[in-house]
Amino acid sequence: MPACAPALFLPAPPYPFSALRPALDEQTVRTHYCHHYVPAMQRLYALAQGKAPAELQGCTWQELVRVLPTAGDAAHTCADVYHHMLYFSGMQGATSQPYGYLLNAIRREFGSADALRSAFSRAACSLPGSGWLWLAVRRGSLCVLPLPDRDLPAQEDVSPVLCCDVWEHAYYLQYRQREQYLDAWWSVLDWQRAEDLYVGSGALERR
Ligand SMILES: [Fe+2]
Repeated sequence: MPACAPALFLPAPPYPFSALRPALDEQTVRTHYCHHYVPAMQRLYALAQGKAPAELQGCTWQELVRVLPTAGDAAHTCADVYHHMLYFSGMQGATSQPYGYLLNAIRREFGSADALRSAFSRAACSLPGSGWLWLAVRRGSLCVLPLPDRDLPAQEDVSPVLCCDVWEHAYYLQYRQREQYLDAWWSVLDWQRAEDLYVGSGALERR
């Protein structure tokens, strides 16, 4: 576990800060985790005082916003933590490829994994300012979903499969261009995690 990880109820990334090299270097991952994700977790922990950690552990984003205050900064904190949890848990230090039910859905709805990658990169590069980009399941189908600033989806019937942080703090130490960062991020995705999220979304039951 990284040295700066606090003893909170949300999971630390399952890899050392250096594990994503060369795609994402150690300084980039360490700075992002310690100076952006950890403070967001600490703010959430303060909001959650009086609630048992077990009540929040493993929450979906829909459940998280139901059990915590969601006005103003509190909503931003919930979104910050949930997006970052998805982002850090969606990468790994080994190369993998999409497979299984998710690959079938990608081929059916985008044509190929390369076509999805191109669509995802275009959407990320055209997102003005800061934000997040999800590959998500909505009403049983895959979609590329831009989420500007600290937004969570407006509709509850949305389940994330992939989550990319396109705030500059995620890449500026190593990359000047968002497109280069997207290519690097894509190369360290944990496709087993993505497959698990896709299967868990209920998409298969809706077909
Ligand atoms: Fe971030």
